[in-house]
Amino acid sequence: MAPNVQGLDIGTMTKYTFPHNFLWGAATASYQIEGAWNEDGKGESVWDRFSHTPGKIANADTGDVACDHYHRWREDIALMRQLGLKAYRFSVSWPRILPAGVGRVNEAGLDFYDRLVDALCAANIEPFITLHHWDFPQILYEQGGWTNRDNLHHFADYAAIVTKRLGDRISRWATINEPGVIAWDGYIGGEHAPGEQDPLKGRQVAHNLMVAHGLAAQAIRGVDSNLQVGIVLNQWMADAADDQPQSIKNAGQAWDSSETTFLHPILKGYYHPAQVEWTGGLPEIQPGDMALISQKMDFLGINFYSRNLYNAKGHVDEVPGAEYTAIGWEVCAPALRRLLNKLNRDYSLPPVYITENGAAFQDVVAADGSIHDSRRLDYLRQHFIQTRLAMQDGVDVRGYFVWSLLDNFEWAEGYNKRFGIIRVDFDTQQRIFKDSGAWVAGVIRDNAVTI
Ligand code: FCB
Repeated sequence: MAPNVQGLDIGTMTKYTFPHNFLWGAATASYQIEGAWNEDGKGESVWDRFSHTPGKIANADTGDVACDHYHRWREDIALMRQLGLKAYRFSVSWPRILPAGVGRVNEAGLDFYDRLVDALCAANIEPFITLHHWDFPQILYEQGGWTNRDNLHHFADYAAIVTKRLGDRISRWATINEPGVIAWDGYIGGEHAPGEQDPLKGRQVAHNLMVAHGLAAQAIRGVDSNLQVGIVLNQWMADAADDQPQSIKNAGQAWDSSETTFLHPILKGYYHPAQVEWTGGLPEIQPGDMALISQKMDFLGINFYSRNLYNAKGHVDEVPGAEYTAIGWEVCAPALRRLLNKLNRDYSLPPVYITENGAAFQDVVAADGSIHDSRRLDYLRQHFIQTRLAMQDGVDVRGYFVWSLLDNFEWAEGYNKRFGIIRVDFDTQQRIFKDSGAWVAGVIRDNAVTI
């Protein structure tokens, strides 16, 4: 029987074939998988400090060991080969390269990524790099973190160091992962490192992160002007629950005020007026900032997980009849197609990569050791199909990275929320393919989703 595919007339189509050069991948992040938090000269990051602070992380989990990828990377690349990945998105730990955030380079840290990249290339898996996925050097945080403009320049220096070492083998460079989560969860909500709760600061951090992105983009291009540079944003679609003008207005306002925070400055060079109003005014902008922020981008990375829904009264907190993942996000794959089309209508988009998409569910290990994660598999299938449909609508999507290769340290949620298509037993570090992993391997092999 054909599976349920949200929003589709499944009777009319059975095979969704992707372009031959479509970049199928999986994604991870340094703090979430590496472990080895204080090995081989690595400096402390704000996430080390935060997870070591009692009460911050569910179950008092830390990333001290995580998936032990720092030691098991060869095994992990073998798993990637089994999946048939064309590309692997990973991030570099800034304090592993520069223990003090600036100044002395830790050669052992650079060597680690150098070997990883060599092995990926030997396995014919394209390394797709992210320079910053939240593990900011603790010592630079103590000197003002992302509010101190000197640190934006330190980030650019770090970008240049990594580019000089790896730029001969990596062509796609993402500067920062989800600046919105750093600003909102790290500096305003406080549930992420560094755990501040200061709205004014958070707004400034959001701006400064874009300046840091711009400076890093210049630094990367300064090393090699042929490299492809982009940024990774998390975008949730804002949908209206019905046709009532007030519902549509509410969804539109929600989009304009929050979802444009990074898109507008980066792709248009100015802040959306509704965004400025929502955050209570403009951040401090220095001469030249907006030009730096809005310089040409070679690609845009979109992390997509869910959407927000609005009716005439406002935000719909619980969508009747909807499926939710273990982390409490609504499953709504058609919103991905709508999002991609909206982005394409509203902005002059560079090529797009879905740099993250996936789902946390409570996995059950069967007696024979298998993991029949049918809900995750279904989630991925629906999102693959909606991506393909958005491409048919005319959106230039070049690749897709499943979040995540492995179960890993899910930030404030610790190890309890599993997103991997490969299970990790955190007691033994054993890796086991889930059904979703085997299914993804088949999609990549066929370069098509068949239903
Ligand atoms: C994204 C993060 C990623 C992961 C997923 C579930 O916001 O970029 O590290 O935690 O959410």
